[in-house]
Amino acid sequence: MQAKITTLPGDGIGPEIVSATRLVLDTVASTFDHQFTYREALLGGIAIDETGNAFPDATLEACQQADAILLGAVGGPKWDDPNAADRPERGLLAMRKALGLFANIRPVKLFRGLEAASPLKAERLANVDLLFVRELTGGIYFGQPKGKDVVDGERRGFDTMVYRESEIRRIVSLAMEIARKRPRKHVTSIDKANVLATMQVWRQVATEVGAENPDITLVHQLVDSAAMRLVTNPGDFDVIVAGNMFGDILSDEGAVLTGSLGLLPSASLGETKLGVYEPIHGSAPDIAGKGIANPLGTILSAAMLLRHSLDLDTEALAIEAAVQQALDDGLRTGDLGGGEKSLGTTAMGEAICARIKKH
Ligand code: NAD
Ligand code: IPM
Ligand code: MN
Repeated sequence: MQAKITTLPGDGIGPEIVSATRLVLDTVASTFDHQFTYREALLGGIAIDETGNAFPDATLEACQQADAILLGAVGGPKWDDPNAADRPERGLLAMRKALGLFANIRPVKLFRGLEAASPLKAERLANVDLLFVRELTGGIYFGQPKGKDVVDGERRGFDTMVYRESEIRRIVSLAMEIARKRPRKHVTSIDKANVLATMQVWRQVATEVGAENPDITLVHQLVDSAAMRLVTNPGDFDVIVAGNMFGDILSDEGAVLTGSLGLLPSASLGETKLGVYEPIHGSAPDIAGKGIANPLGTILSAAMLLRHSLDLDTEALAIEAAVQQALDDGLRTGDLGGGEKSLGTTAMGEAICARIKKH
């Protein structure tokens, strides 16, 4: 098949992990006889530097004309001035909103052989196979009013957490659909209904959606105790649905159960087939430019891209199998405890390519 892929390398380790992933996509194309054409566009800090805008119109256009979008990461200390006119992260949020990507899917799967890399004891990791469905275009990230001002001579900052019924219904319904295809058919809805009015509406609507899906078990859990249970009994969870901010926080916690934040892929999806595929981690300024970042979260995001936007399930499985084989062969990046024998970003990408070719 022919497909147009727009890449948004972004900042920090973004360009490094995206180029390692391009190698993998090229190998998939040659092995399975597809033609992928790429267009690179600016997002984040690099876009601010080059155009003064973290999400330029040309990038929106490059995203809209693509079949799928592969993103590295944005942000870094260079653009962290709280008084700056624009921020890299604003560009990312604006892109999600402009493309209508209301759902962020973050599957947390353990890879065989990485038990020692996890901060949890192996016995706690039994049965871990969970998936976050994070609402991505609403909640406190986008609610108005939002801003900074001075009141009674002191600085003040404020944000608004707001969810409409339709937004809650849409994301919880998607979580139900996803759970239906999984063996446990279980959804945990995360809220803070004991304190926040927004979250009381969230729980009410989630309960209604649950009643419409009687084949799925729905349970509600407060976000604070959910954070605790993710490290004490992570194997209890199947699908976890959460609003934008709680989903952001819990999914970093969930990711590291597998051994490293650098492993977790994600898909940001809307009503159409167009999606943005990105690792859940950030631009890792502390290791940027060293060629040591783990590219596997991005490579696994490319597998999600093939599966969801291009319907190439066999090819997606080939990438996932190649990642497991590379780990079985003892290959590790530094964050996975590779120690002195650690592979760099490009070498790990090439190792995945070699295993796809043997497919
Ligand atoms: P981070 O995810 O960038 O890094 C957290 C820690 O994990 C760091 O020690 C980092 O070295 C490590 N790490 C992350 N990805 C790794 C990888 N692939 N391989 C090896 N190690 C990896 O989070 P942070 O430091 O809090 O944020 C840095 C910047 O990234 C901030 O500007 C933040 O806004 C931005 N950010 C962007 C995205 C995104 O673009 N989607 C996501 C999260 C954070
Ligand atoms: C993520 C990131 C972003 C978010 C930031 C960089 C805006 O943390 O994709 O998880 O909070 O959504
Ligand atoms: Mn995050």
